[in-house]
Amino acid sequence: MKANIPQMEPWFDDAEANAVFAYMKSGGWLMEFKKTEELERMIADYVGAKYCVMTVNGTVSLWLALRALGVGRGDEVLVPNLTMIASPNAVALAGASPVLVDVEVNTLCMDLEKAVLSVTPKTKALMYVPFNGRSGDMERVVSFCKEHDLLLVEDAAQAFGSFFKEKHLGAFGAIGSFSFSVPKIITTGQGGALVTDNEELYKKMRRLKDFGRDQGGADIHDDWGWNFKFTDLQAVVGIEQMKKLAWRVSRKKELYKRYSDALRDISQILFLPTDLTNTSPWFIDIYVDDPDGLQHYLKENGIGARRIYPAVHTQKIYQPAYREISFPVSEQFAARGLWLPSSSKLTDEEVDYVAEMIKKYYS
Ligand SMILES: Cc1ncc(COP(=O)(O)O)c(C=O)c1O
Repeated sequence: MKANIPQMEPWFDDAEANAVFAYMKSGGWLMEFKKTEELERMIADYVGAKYCVMTVNGTVSLWLALRALGVGRGDEVLVPNLTMIASPNAVALAGASPVLVDVEVNTLCMDLEKAVLSVTPKTKALMYVPFNGRSGDMERVVSFCKEHDLLLVEDAAQAFGSFFKEKHLGAFGAIGSFSFSVPKIITTGQGGALVTDNEELYKKMRRLKDFGRDQGGADIHDDWGWNFKFTDLQAVVGIEQMKKLAWRVSRKKELYKRYSDALRDISQILFLPTDLTNTSPWFIDIYVDDPDGLQHYLKENGIGARRIYPAVHTQKIYQPAYREISFPVSEQFAARGLWLPSSSKLTDEEVDYVAEMIKKYYS
């Protein structure tokens, strides 16, 4: 019988179902209220930040972060050229210009040696994206931003559960952003979280997502604001998912180790150096010469795999600005990257089966 192993699958059980049922029976209004506050507290504590603000998704959260920091028209923001399109597009949504920077070979995160060449008097912020939970030296990133007077925003959408020197990614900059979309390690369907230690930024972000007011129920709008609030119905799911996070973090690490041990001798496959003490890989990423061929072969055998992102500058909307510029590392890795089945729901037997099929492909 053909296998049926998806590349990714969310994972809920009776805990979420019962919590939603209990919440509905309790007469909750579904909208953002106490449950969202409870989830915000759990996330802030987990990340080690003072404050957390939930919002609708991890794209809007980036926009909220930039807007709260005063990044807008006329400003430039450095963004890695290998990331999900939401990172540069959030900069554009804020009215600023994303300036793409190539990534470094070992982490696929922004290469600071290249970033320095793109700093201009207009550069206001640096958006650091820990690619698949890995980061470069965050102390260096922080000092780079200080040196060049840049605000540091971390798009840690793929890094929930990942650390640098025991500090959670997303907690190094002025504001860190997370996503809880369906493929993430834990999910609320859609969802975004912002963390900060700065009370003023925290209040600003709360106002921005709630019509510019300091208090719900009143119609005093001292500041600009819109409606980007979360819902308690999703928060109820998020609270249950948070209780499973520690286990999932260790399971993701086990999966990564199991795949990389099984495929270590296949010379055609590259695994990036991954420190599993700190890094909880979001997905299992491998780099091969023929990702399309391997993806097709796996699909034929009932195994889901997905190409990693194209380099941002090759996307149609970014091409005109970057036609003459090359980004060798992001181009090379985008051309070679493949995400393998990565759900924390995978069994050891399924991982072994996927690895066996990959070995067969290369034999
Ligand atoms: C690095 C990165 N930033 C931002 C996002 C956008 O998050 P959302 O889908 O919650 O809008 C994603 C989503 O996968 C992402 O991977």
